[in-house]
Amino acid sequence: MANILVTGGAGYIGSHTCLEILNAGHSVIVLDNLSNSSEEALLRVQELTAKSLTFVEGDIRDASALDQVFAAHQIDAVIHFAGLKAVGESQQIPLTYFDNNIAGSISLVQAMERAEVFHLVFSSSATVYGESNPSPYQENMPLGMPTNNYGYTKLIVEQMLEKLSLADERWSIALLRYFNPIGAHKSGRIGEDPQGIPNNLMPFITQVAVGRREKLSIFGQDYATQDGTCERDYIHVVDLAKAHLLALDHRLKSKGCRAWNIGTGQPISVLQMKNTFEKVNDRKIPFEFVERRFGDLASFYADSTRAQTELGWIAKYSLEDMLVDSWNWQKQNPEGYKK
Ligand SMILES: NC(=O)c1ccc[n+]([C@@H]2O[C@H](COP(=O)([O-])OP(=O)(O)OC[C@H]3O[C@@H](n4cnc5c(N)ncnc54)[C@H](O)[C@@H]3O)[C@@H](O)[C@H]2O)c1
Repeated sequence: MANILVTGGAGYIGSHTCLEILNAGHSVIVLDNLSNSSEEALLRVQELTAKSLTFVEGDIRDASALDQVFAAHQIDAVIHFAGLKAVGESQQIPLTYFDNNIAGSISLVQAMERAEVFHLVFSSSATVYGESNPSPYQENMPLGMPTNNYGYTKLIVEQMLEKLSLADERWSIALLRYFNPIGAHKSGRIGEDPQGIPNNLMPFITQVAVGRREKLSIFGQDYATQDGTCERDYIHVVDLAKAHLLALDHRLKSKGCRAWNIGTGQPISVLQMKNTFEKVNDRKIPFEFVERRFGDLASFYADSTRAQTELGWIAKYSLEDMLVDSWNWQKQNPEGYKK
């Protein structure tokens, strides 16, 4: 049994991962400033697992808060989700993103070093492959320059962690490059709860289905894809959460810095998503085509062979499962975690 510090553990992916860690018999300490989440998610995780976790409300940029957490708990490893993730917003307030995501990660890693904790799993993103690599993306491709400031923060932190592990062999770091996480826990008790207008397709579709928004806007219909709309690699959040446990196990046994893609390897178009959602959930999604959105690539998806062979990870959930579970969460919680 290990003591795992989960930064950003109250968020969408973090809460699902806390649930898997507790179910695997480990202890969880969450550090989250609740800037994009609710403590209610953690109460529900504890209710679903019938296990308790420790929640500390605090910021990863606060060195003394971090030192207190490391002093109070014998932490064995850290899973680092805390960060801001809205692509559009990162273009408007870049410094806030650099401070939160880059300076925040430096602050965390410094506190880990002070506490002599050297096992880290970092939430990276497929965005680090940039624009010029062809799909399917493989981990050994040269990384590109992301088109937005959010992606840039992920690239910088990846490179920084890699250099750190080269300079100091005590470190063991996993970079998990997520593709597009969607879905929710089967119970419908925890799920994605974006503030304001969702940036991502899935919560947009479910909010239209539940009547919070009038119609789905589809950005562009003339991409060089099977039906003209953008294609992405959607991955069930529970499959993604499980990848963290496997990466942690792997890192507890080896040194250095290693990246793994976490995606299904299946390109799914926006229209396919909408049509499949309508079919499996028996719900119409009114939509309109609008202009292309700046920075959207036509298609990207993973080659996840490395995660399969090295971590023993495989995506178990189908697209239908993802769409049923997303809708189950949204219809049980039309306003998210707000009561
Ligand atoms: N959801 C995606 O599509 C996606 C894709 C690739 C990578 N990621 C990365 O995965 C991680 C988790 O994403 P998510 O979808 O669960 O997002 P989320 O916003 O639901 O979760 C992030 C959590 O971090 C917390 N947080 C933010 N800044 C903090 C700080 N300075 N100190 C302490 N807590 C802080 C937020 O309150 C939130 O609970 C993020 O780093 C994100 O960039 C997400």
